[in-house]
Amino acid sequence: MAGGLGPLLRGRSRQLGSVAFGLQKWKSSVSLQAKMPPCDFVPEKYQSYAYDHMLKIRERNVSPSLVTYYKKPLLLHQGYMQWLFDYEGRRYLDLFAGIVTISVGHCHPKVTVAAQKQLARLWHTTNIYMHPSIQEYAEKLTSLLPDPLKVVYLTNSGSEANDLAMFMARIYTRNFDIICFRGGYHGGSPYTLGVTSLGPYKHGVANDFGCSATMLPDVFRGPWGGSHCRDSPVQTIRKCSCSGGVCHAKDQYIEQFKDTLNTCVPKKIAGFIAEPIQGVNGTVQYPKSFLKEAYQLVRERGGLCIADEVQTGFGRTGSHFWGFQTHDVLPDIVTMAKGIGNGFPMGAVVTTKEIASSLAQNLHFNTYGGNPVACVVGAAVLDAIEEDGLQKNCEEVGTYMLLELAKLRDKFEIIGDVRGKGLMIGIEMVTNKGSCHPLPNEEINQIWEDCKDMGVLIGRGGLYRQTFRIKPPMCITKRDAEFAVEVFHTALERHMKRAAEK
Ligand SMILES: Cc1ncc(COP(=O)(O)O)c(C=O)c1O
Repeated sequence: MAGGLGPLLRGRSRQLGSVAFGLQKWKSSVSLQAKMPPCDFVPEKYQSYAYDHMLKIRERNVSPSLVTYYKKPLLLHQGYMQWLFDYEGRRYLDLFAGIVTISVGHCHPKVTVAAQKQLARLWHTTNIYMHPSIQEYAEKLTSLLPDPLKVVYLTNSGSEANDLAMFMARIYTRNFDIICFRGGYHGGSPYTLGVTSLGPYKHGVANDFGCSATMLPDVFRGPWGGSHCRDSPVQTIRKCSCSGGVCHAKDQYIEQFKDTLNTCVPKKIAGFIAEPIQGVNGTVQYPKSFLKEAYQLVRERGGLCIADEVQTGFGRTGSHFWGFQTHDVLPDIVTMAKGIGNGFPMGAVVTTKEIASSLAQNLHFNTYGGNPVACVVGAAVLDAIEEDGLQKNCEEVGTYMLLELAKLRDKFEIIGDVRGKGLMIGIEMVTNKGSCHPLPNEEINQIWEDCKDMGVLIGRGGLYRQTFRIKPPMCITKRDAEFAVEVFHTALERHMKRAAEK
């Protein structure tokens, strides 16, 4: 929170239904009131340790590698749909969904009841026996995928799913090398760290044998990009002279991909792993048709194509249920986690019968994958997505939000890019549109803290943490989006005021 405004807001923010800003001298074009949409849900009274004691325990007994967001970490104790409540009863609009994980809504009643019923019935058997829910769920989940992607292996996390996908690609092809994009995040396990290509996650230990990171076809920050490369309602501010069906940026990036194939890997490879839209790296979208051509090149080398749908799956992109469908490609292996369980720890690898069979030549086992409670939760999540019309909601609310944010990009020099699809949105902050240098973190932090103090939680991403990530529970409403954009607008105006006063 910026110096002088802190006490002013802290005193008032408990009301949060109506946050007054008290910036009379600042000529603002936005209303001075950002009114939080109402919510009928009443949270329980917080009854655990005092905040300071929690902080002490955190410092003493929780691994320091687990960092917390914000100068004063939030202590949240209850959630309901798109809302989170802190220990003092403050309500927040959750635009980050526990890192793109709450898909259908915090404690969605249907999912909660399904989990409760299963908890009273059977918790665990492991896979040496059959229980009904794993078959029921396997049938339901695979019915949402095109042929021949009909066989599932259930895991406990996204990292485990990607580990297994890499393993399967290697076993099936009997090749070793896997290509990934720079900037991609595929997990923190020793195997997936080889294809997680973001410096801050690299620990300087040998875990990337056989993994080669190729140039990211980033049409905003990369060397090529134009005015209609992306599958998004909002394009970059870059200009180009490409006409329908032609994309020179895509062609240039494909040349780079070929270069990697020709210089970094043997003639035969095991596969290529990519997210349909990069998540952790700040919602980076590739030029249209890039993945289609890249998949073909990979297959010419004997490799399998792995789509990491951990963030993009389950309807979040709005137009399609799976991110790969937005690129008109058919992967050989699809990995899932996060939204699959609405916060319940689970993941999945879906592939063809033939590829799955390669793993059956020897034993491969995990104790909890396909756990009865996880399967019931997963099935209830799929029902909720369908019954609540969440894919359509992602498209409608996401498109609305993207277009509103694009107006802010046009107004503020420090917003370099607004991008995304459905409710997977990135706002890249820069010092100015000409240079595209990342806005310094101290400045981004203040805008971000301001949003939080006005009741809106936003994620961060990108190599320099320069991109705001908006990936809320898929149940947020247009009214919530309006509120969020207004809050963000106010935080930007405050930033400009601070900068002008310096
Ligand atoms: C695209 C993607 N893949 C894989 C993972 C790893 O998932 P998990 O944290 O469940 O291991 C993540 C986590 O952020 C992710 O964003």
